[in-house]
Amino acid sequence: MSQADLNESTDPAQRAAQQAAQLRAELHLHAHRYYVLDAPSIPDAEYDRLFQALQAIEAAHPDLLTADSPTQRVLGRVLDGFTPVRHAVPMLSIRTETDTEASGATSFDARVRRELELTDDAPALEYNAELKFDGLAMNLRYERGVLVQAATRGDGETGEDVTQNIRTIGQIPLRLHLAPGETAPEVLEVRGEVYMRRDDFEAMNERQRQAGDKTFVNPRNAAAGAVRQLDPSIAARRPLSFYAYGVGEIQGWQQPDTHSGTLDALQAMGLPVCADRVVAHGSDGLVTFHQAMGVRRDSLPFDIDGVVYKVNSLDLQRRLGFVSREPRWAVAHKYPAQEQMTLLQDIDIQVGRTGKLTPVAKLQPVFVGGTTVSNATLHNEDEARRKDVRVGDTVIVRRAGDVIPEVVGVVLEHRPADVGGPFDLYKQLKGVCPVCGSAIAREEGEADWRCTGGLFCPAQRKQAILHFAGRRAVDIEGLGDKLVDQLVDSGTVLSLPGLYKLGIAKLASMERMAEKSAQNIVDALEKSKHTTLPRFLFGLGIRQIGETTAKDLARHFGSLDRIMDASVEQLLEVRDVGPIVAQSIRTFFDQAHNREVVEQLRAAGVHWDESEGAAAEQGPKPLAGKTLVLTGSLPMLSRDQAKELIEAAGGKVSGSVSKKTHYVVAGEEAGSKLDKARELGLTVLDEAGLMALLAADEGHSLP
Ligand code: IVH
Repeated sequence: MSQADLNESTDPAQRAAQQAAQLRAELHLHAHRYYVLDAPSIPDAEYDRLFQALQAIEAAHPDLLTADSPTQRVLGRVLDGFTPVRHAVPMLSIRTETDTEASGATSFDARVRRELELTDDAPALEYNAELKFDGLAMNLRYERGVLVQAATRGDGETGEDVTQNIRTIGQIPLRLHLAPGETAPEVLEVRGEVYMRRDDFEAMNERQRQAGDKTFVNPRNAAAGAVRQLDPSIAARRPLSFYAYGVGEIQGWQQPDTHSGTLDALQAMGLPVCADRVVAHGSDGLVTFHQAMGVRRDSLPFDIDGVVYKVNSLDLQRRLGFVSREPRWAVAHKYPAQEQMTLLQDIDIQVGRTGKLTPVAKLQPVFVGGTTVSNATLHNEDEARRKDVRVGDTVIVRRAGDVIPEVVGVVLEHRPADVGGPFDLYKQLKGVCPVCGSAIAREEGEADWRCTGGLFCPAQRKQAILHFAGRRAVDIEGLGDKLVDQLVDSGTVLSLPGLYKLGIAKLASMERMAEKSAQNIVDALEKSKHTTLPRFLFGLGIRQIGETTAKDLARHFGSLDRIMDASVEQLLEVRDVGPIVAQSIRTFFDQAHNREVVEQLRAAGVHWDESEGAAAEQGPKPLAGKTLVLTGSLPMLSRDQAKELIEAAGGKVSGSVSKKTHYVVAGEEAGSKLDKARELGLTVLDEAGLMALLAADEGHSLP
């Protein structure tokens, strides 16, 4: 706003009115750029400054306040209830097709053609295909361009006035945008869906959790709760969004003659309209849209439960009319539901590979997200308690995409009188691991309970064996996961020392094992017996002990016995060993069976040179024999730093990409070397990937 504009009038009251109008116009524009176009042109602080300037003027001149002022978005009073609103034009529902196959689209097209008495050779009909947003329907009433009322659908005839909550949605224009010279429609009701984006939902739930408040089951429920929130200041903190998909009452507006044209016009007036819509021809076009959106469903930023097909011509829509409360010209073609209700029959506790104890809901089987689900994760004890799930409850299960099914909440209205008590993992397990009977523990600040059984627990045994046999541990070549699965499942190997009792005959009796490969394993076992203290220590798989810590411990104490007997205080003297690591070592060696495993391994012949092994071990070279090429600039490391690190890890840095290159590390503005790498199908890493290779601390072998 220029000084000249502000000075136009000398009458103070008139000048304030001009300023307020100007500020409002600017704020409307910037709010639209920010919320709808996602392309702000001024910094937030500048927006705040304009906003505060307007607030100040309105405070000094209350008569200047208008319903469409941006300052009115967040204001309002706590309500006792919502006022009923009778819809000028009823809010209808749409017929739903639940077929997962194309037939939903073809039968709709066939029905419409029949109703319109079209012959088979008549050209394909034009439809508008759009998304079926999973939120709640809303009617926005604009009078002479100003938002005067927002109402829920209610029973279709009468809804509720939720204007003050809807005003808080930044995307909804408080005043319609009009082209220069264009007059505002006398009345324009815009219909659409209020919803919550998935990221906004997650962030909001996280805030609720932090504050110890109740979390919401899904974005739809959260949105519905926010819309019907009586305290507008709470509603303002619930991040809602809106998409327009139609119109209600119209007076004094020349509506375009198609549905797609109407959506374009609404968009031009500043209303958010989803870009994922197409004008489709015939049932083929509809089928294509249904399939394409089905594929994209899980990667959209918001939930949809299907797609909607609408006859595009308004003239044809009028000819088709309605049957009961549903238009004949529209249909919702749903996708398989991703949430279902079912009975929680029991809560099992599974032992993961690192001893993590996960509560798993045992459900009455239910068809959800395209498959029958009878188990769903409850994540951990805190989550289960927060959701207050109890055996006997009716719960909501969600399965979206390939994600493991989860219990998202309880339907409290269906809770039976004889429901079980609150979930208590420790009590349920009586303090011991369900697989091996070892004590369970939950460290402070951790979400998970764990079995302390370590090497003794069969559920952890496979992983423990693979870790011990890993290249950076004692390195038993050829002992892969398929073989380990067989050895453990058949009861052949019950613990690490059992590995060294394996003979050729036993090994050769395993699936896909020939005499020759059995012999190779036996040789590899023999070779692995001569190791180093850091490798052995790392191989034991003590939580928190990576290769570096293992080396530091070996160097500091010089012998395994001294490490096993060290107190927490003594362990804390080691470089980079903190209380958590020290306690983890202590806990491990306090378990008699872990000490026994160590003794049996030694008895089997596993040995190392303590004096030399401890001090001289340079550490394995994770990049030995590998050639890397660096291209582009990395976020943290300079070219030289990256080179130094690679070389220290035994790797070689080359200036050009060839078939002999093992890895290409690409940063910002990587050029032709990256293209060449892609052409050759080489492994391309970013800086984090390089760091992971270098650290390679957790026993994973390199690709
Ligand atoms: S059109 C006369 N279009 O689905 C047709 N509805 O039963 C009126 N919905 O709760 C509705 N996305 O809120 C239409 N693109 C869309 C929609 C949509 C979601 C909801 C609507 C209502 C239900 C229709």
